[in-house]
Amino acid sequence: MKSNKELIDKLHISHSLTHEEWTALLSTYNEEDRLYAADRARAVTDEIYGKDVFIRGIVEFSNTCNKNCYYCGLRAGNTKLERYRLSIDDIMDCCKDGYEFGFRTFVLQSGEDPYYTTEMICELVKRIKKEFPDCAVTLSIGEKSYEDYKAFKDAGADRYLLRHETANEEHYGKLHPENMSWANRMRCLNDLKSLGFQTGCGVMIGSPEQTIDCLADDMLYMEKLKPEMIGLGPFLPHSDTPFRDKPKGSYEMTLFMISLCRLMLPHALIPATTALGTIKPDGREQGILAGANVIMPNLSPVRVRDKYMLYDNKICTGDASSGCRACIEARVQSVGYNVAITRGDYK
Ligand code: 5AD
Ligand code: SF4
Ligand code: FES
Repeated sequence: MKSNKELIDKLHISHSLTHEEWTALLSTYNEEDRLYAADRARAVTDEIYGKDVFIRGIVEFSNTCNKNCYYCGLRAGNTKLERYRLSIDDIMDCCKDGYEFGFRTFVLQSGEDPYYTTEMICELVKRIKKEFPDCAVTLSIGEKSYEDYKAFKDAGADRYLLRHETANEEHYGKLHPENMSWANRMRCLNDLKSLGFQTGCGVMIGSPEQTIDCLADDMLYMEKLKPEMIGLGPFLPHSDTPFRDKPKGSYEMTLFMISLCRLMLPHALIPATTALGTIKPDGREQGILAGANVIMPNLSPVRVRDKYMLYDNKICTGDASSGCRACIEARVQSVGYNVAITRGDYK
């Protein structure tokens, strides 16, 4: 039996553990192991990306969603939520502000909202790429067909975020209603990869019914998929969802998983997520110290921010984009890193 430190060393060197090793490590690690992994992970990030932290401006352009994920405040079944949709011009205005603040990646995120047709999204991508040719465009708009993804790529989109949520099919069924399929989620991620998107997957840490076995499956899945980006945040309950009474995920486990992902996929772009900053005031800074190298502040107009509530108490809902930009600069510098004014592509 290897000790946890030996397992972390093995991961660091060979970028791979067996399912058994993953479950052993994840079920028995202590604070010392976690900090040991964080130190190694941070050294790996520094070696590849230096002291640069990349920023992405997120435009949450629609909170309308026709899916019903049990965990999410935007779910169609949440009738308490006032829905909004930004116009193409509104979205362009957010990007203009963002460009001035030094963002060179725009993330266009929404619920699964069929109001925005493939043609509209393609037009939008083309407009952004034309107006800001030195910027990357990331889409985060959910499950689509291969043809749709191909159209987005042809229009100039560079990256796509679609969390797999769980690599365990049975667990997927506990987080989603019957009309959502794990196989289709996997198909989407494979399509995105094969089309040449810088592809992001990811999971919530501590989502209801998640077991150590599920997390081991997630690590093995990601080892195989080799995503360019990995989004990890703690599960946080939302009061108008079926999971309102479920406990939130573990802050420490989230940091540990960030470090382990860094050691497994050294070049990955790993954000210190908004959920991590919500569960702990300095969560994002600690995420950077655990091996993350991306922060994604909000660029949405202030008037809609409190309506994009995936979970309760989401941070930055009252802050203007300029405020978040300055806030991020200070937070990143407080842990010895710099905000880089570049696209921040996968190396
Ligand atoms: N807590 C934490 N993360 C959540 N997400 C959705 N709802 C929640 C929640 N309650 C995450 C999902 C989704 C991403 C956009 O936000 O992983 O893919
Ligand atoms: Fe819709 Fe995405 Fe929320 Fe699911 S997680 S309900 S698809 S916005
Ligand atoms: Fe929005 Fe700190 S990032 S206020």
